[in-house]
Amino acid sequence: MMKPLSSIIEVVDLSHSYGERKVLQDLNLGIGKGEVFALIGPTGAGKTTLLRIIDLLEVPGAGEIYFDGKCLPRSGKQRLEIRRRMSFIHQKPQVFNLSVYDNVACGLRWRGEGKNRIAEKVDHILEMVGLEGYKNRNARTLSGGEAQRVALARSLVLEPEVLLLDEPTANLDPVSTAKIEQLISYVARQHNTTMIIATHDMSQGQQLADRIGVLLDGRLVQTGNVTDIFRSPQNEQVAHFVGMENIIEGVISASNEGIVMVNIGGNAIQAVSNHPAGKEVYACIRPEDITLALSRTQSSARNSFQAKVTRVTSFGPLSRVEINCGFRLVALVTKISAEELNLQVGREVYATFKATGVHVMERKTS
Ligand SMILES: Nc1ncnc2c1ncn2[C@@H]1O[C@H](COP(=O)(O)OP(=O)(O)OP(=O)(O)O)[C@@H](O)[C@H]1O
Ligand SMILES: [Mg+2]
Repeated sequence: MMKPLSSIIEVVDLSHSYGERKVLQDLNLGIGKGEVFALIGPTGAGKTTLLRIIDLLEVPGAGEIYFDGKCLPRSGKQRLEIRRRMSFIHQKPQVFNLSVYDNVACGLRWRGEGKNRIAEKVDHILEMVGLEGYKNRNARTLSGGEAQRVALARSLVLEPEVLLLDEPTANLDPVSTAKIEQLISYVARQHNTTMIIATHDMSQGQQLADRIGVLLDGRLVQTGNVTDIFRSPQNEQVAHFVGMENIIEGVISASNEGIVMVNIGGNAIQAVSNHPAGKEVYACIRPEDITLALSRTQSSARNSFQAKVTRVTSFGPLSRVEINCGFRLVALVTKISAEELNLQVGREVYATFKATGVHVMERKTS
């Protein structure tokens, strides 16, 4: 059976259980050649299980996987050949109790490459991952970030067509994380390697991926580009997961040519949407899309509400400001502007946001 060749990996109606527990349910997903795909989802969502199945470490309970147009057999030699075209970097990368050089070289030795060719390739890759000075160090003595780079080098030296990365920066400090992320985007750009990156870190998905799939409780709830997922989550669960902090219940009170009024307990929010009047909806606003000011500013933003600050929490350079404007809103502002506006509990402010900054999503009443 052949599938269209545009996808290098095609997952069709895939389900998997461990005992009674359904871990993956009815997944359908195509990964394009050269695409960087982030699989995001909370702990236990099934990310690792899906990567293991794609890497042929496990046979799915139901469904098929196509690799480069060919349906994968459930056993046999062909699986091994296909496995060789992929490389899997595990959630907890294991380095061998050998020098950094030998760690990276061993895959090439197994493949029977010549000594000089191996040396050339390993040197090149170690330079790329910034470990050229570490050749003779025992890999077990490296820091977590360095070990992760060895794991990456060990995969990259084999020039896989598909690279599967399972939480590549979990447990790494911010500097090591940034290095690994830079490497991943460098490889994606320079080598056009297809990548599937499992992560529970939204911003990592946003930063690295061409496309994101949200996996919740074993279901691929939404797949789309970064903007789709962040601006237009398909349901409340995805909205929560992507940090859409303001998810406000309302009812459409008027709808005209793509602009709606959402009634929220007597207040009206203007939004861009085609839902008809009477529809029960959630109005979703990202906290960074709300601006706060001490007076009603003249601006093109259609929504402006007088509000009282009910809570301020600071983290790093940002302040999270909860306000009450007849309904509760959370705004994210820089700490500097929070200080300039003297945002304290009880302070009166004006909250402003654009109609285009409001994502309206149907509320399914159960
Ligand atoms: N070998 C196994 N036997 C039984 N249950 C398993 C096995 N492997 C995974 N599970 C269960 O399957 C579910 C999905 O696990 P999985 O490791 O795929 O999640 P994940 O999304 O990778 O989570 P995390 O973000 O914590 O890595 C979990 O409930 C897990 O306990
Ligand atoms: Mg996992």
